[in-house]
Amino acid sequence: MRRVFVVLSGLLMIALVLQFYFAAVGAFDRPQDDDTYALHSINGMMIIPLLSILTTVAAAVARAPGRLIGLSLAPLGLVVVQVLIIVVGNVITGGSDEDTSPASLFVFGLHAVNAMLVMGAAATVLRRARTFAAEKSTVDAPQPTVTPVA
Ligand code: HEM
Repeated sequence: MRRVFVVLSGLLMIALVLQFYFAAVGAFDRPQDDDTYALHSINGMMIIPLLSILTTVAAAVARAPGRLIGLSLAPLGLVVVQVLIIVVGNVITGGSDEDTSPASLFVFGLHAVNAMLVMGAAATVLRRARTFAAEKSTVDAPQPTVTPVA
C-alpha cells in the first residue's frame, strides 16, 4: 500500500504540472471564449481533487503518520482556496463580464501565488511518501544472521 501512496502522490504532482501548462494554454488561446480554460477547469475541479482524496486515503490505509495523512489533504484544501480566490475576485469586480479593478486584480493574482503553495505541499507529500515507503522496505528486508564465533 505504501507503493500505491507513492504512485498516487506522483500522479498528483504530474496533474499539478499539467495545471500550470493548461493555464498557459488558456492565456495564449485566441479568441478568448468560454472554452479557453476548459482543460484548466476540468483538471482543477475534478482530476486534482480526486487524486488528492485518493492520495489521502492511500496514506491512511498504509498507516502513514497522522501528520503525513493531514499533509496529503493540504493540496485539496488549497484547491478550494484557488476557487475562493476567483469567487472573491469576481465579487469585487462585480460580475465576470465587467472590467477588472486594481483591487480585484490583486485578489486574482493570489491564484498564482497559491498555486505555488499547492505545488509545494504536493511535492512535500511525494518526498515524504517515498521516505515512508523506503522505511518499510528496510524493515521488511531480511536481517543478516550473526553466528557466534567460537
Ligand atoms: C496548482 C495550480 C492551480 C490549480 C489547482 C488551479 C485551479 C483552478 C480552479 C479550480 C479554477 C476554477 C475553474 C472553474 O471555476 O471552472 C481555476 C481557474 C483559473 N485559473 Fe487556475 N489553478 C492553478 C494554477 C493557475 C495558474 C498558475 C494560473 C495562471 C497564472 C491560473 C489561472 C487561472 C485562470 C485565469 C482561471 C479562470 C478560468 C476561467 O475564467 O474560467 N491557474 N484554477
